[in-house]
Formats: sequence, C-alpha cells, structure tokens
Amino acid sequence: MNLIIFLIECGIELIPKNIRSHSAVKRNLSMKNYHSQLLDNALHHSAMKKLNNRSKRGRPDITHLCLLNALGSPLNQEGKLQIFMHTVNNKIFAFNPKIRIAKNFNRFKGLMAKMLIDNGIKFENDYLIAPIEKKLNEIITELADNNRSNVLILSKKGKLIASYKELYEHNSLENYILIIGGFQKSSFQEYIYGLTDNVISISKYSLNAWNVVSRSITYYEITHNII
Ligand SMILES: C[S@@+](CC[C@H](N)C(=O)[O-])C[C@H]1O[C@@H](n2cnc3c(N)ncnc32)[C@H](O)[C@@H]1O
Repeated sequence: MNLIIFLIECGIELIPKNIRSHSAVKRNLSMKNYHSQLLDNALHHSAMKKLNNRSKRGRPDITHLCLLNALGSPLNQEGKLQIFMHTVNNKIFAFNPKIRIAKNFNRFKGLMAKMLIDNGIKFENDYLIAPIEKKLNEIITELADNNRSNVLILSKKGKLIASYKELYEHNSLENYILIIGGFQKSSFQEYIYGLTDNVISISKYSLNAWNVVSRSITYYEITHNII
C-alpha cells in the first residue's frame, strides 16, 4: 500500500529550437552546461512570448520544490511513496525514492536537462529517474489496479474536505494515487478529469503545488501512523 503522486503538466522541457536564436536565450545558452539548456521562465521570459501554453512552461522551480518536499518526507524514507512527473510535452518519468535531488537550483536544472536528453538518469545499472513509455491514463489505470475510487485529482475546484481524515477515508490496502498540477496558473487540461470522478480540494485557498504535495503527504503519514 503506497501513496503515489503524479505531478502533472510540469514545466520541464529543453529550450525549443524556434526560440534558441532569441537574445534572451543566447545570452545564457552553452552546449557544455546542461542547466543552460532547460527552459526557465525567469531567464527566458521575453523569448517565451512566442510559445503557446506558456503559463505552464519553463517552471522547473515548481517541480524542484515539489520534489524536495516529497523525497525528503518520512513517508518516502519509509519506502511508501512513489513520485511520477508528467511534463507539458507528455513525457513521464518515475523517480527512484533513493535519489538525492540537488538543493542547488542550477544543479537541479542540469539534472532535468540531462534526463530529457538521455531519456532518464542511470547510476551503474539502476535508473534514478526512469522513463515511462506509456500514456498517462495507461500507467494510472495500471497502478490503481483498475480501481478509480482511489485516484484523486487535487484541485481548488474540487469538493472541499472538512478534515484531513476525509482525504484517505478508505484506509484500504490499495494504492492511493494523487494527481497534482505542477504549474502556477491555469487548470488541468480537460482530459485529466477523465481519469477519475474524485476531484478534491484540501483548502479553501488556492495553494502552491509544493504546499499541496507537502500537506497531502503529511495527511497520509498521520492517517497511517508514520512519523
Ligand atoms: C498553483 S495550483 C494551480 C492554480 C489553480 N488556481 C488551482 O488552484 O488549481 C497548482 C496545483 O496545486 C493543487 N491545488 C492548489 N490549491 C488546491 C486546493 N485548495 N486543494 C487541492 N489542490 C490544490 C492543484 O493540483 C493545482 O493544479
């Protein structure tokens, strides 16, 4: 019985070719440095004006904070947490719970760029970040063992829980799968709502993705007596 978190539509991608000649990109880009090859809204804001769906793109900072929160949790150290990242370009990666994510942001960006270029990160024969060659609905259905009732979309627009106890109320022997948006503005693409009927809000406020990751893990730990 695990908690499985899918960070959805994360703004993790290499700088698209059509904006590589823009001055805001050329200023920092070096083929020798992986980190400079990742799209980052803080550096490439003016170049990104040409891109569609740009409110969700170039936000490695959000994914970084979510991963640091999740992978450092007692639940992860207990071996009961699995983290998947789905990107704006529909790539999916699974994080080995033992991976140590760099706290330094540039190093993290370098890791993400290398992951995209090499399609995963390996150490010796093990994947630290493994590519998942399946569609989002396929991998979620498989992990949920065809039980959609344990798949929860977390959204401000969902049904507000009255207490943390309501989030994992089945307390079952099956996996719980949480879907959390890895973006700052806007909502999930419509097809995400086809994955489950359970759309849940954990606060009357709109929270940052990393606060939602942290709180939903903490609620799970308390419910399952993991401290
Ligand atoms: C910064 S929010 C995205 C912006 C959007 N206004 C929203 O609240 O859904 C990033 C993600 O955090 C989660 N989230 C934010 N507030 C939430 C809430 N009150 N309850 C549950 N999930 C929430 C959602 O998964 C959302 O996609």
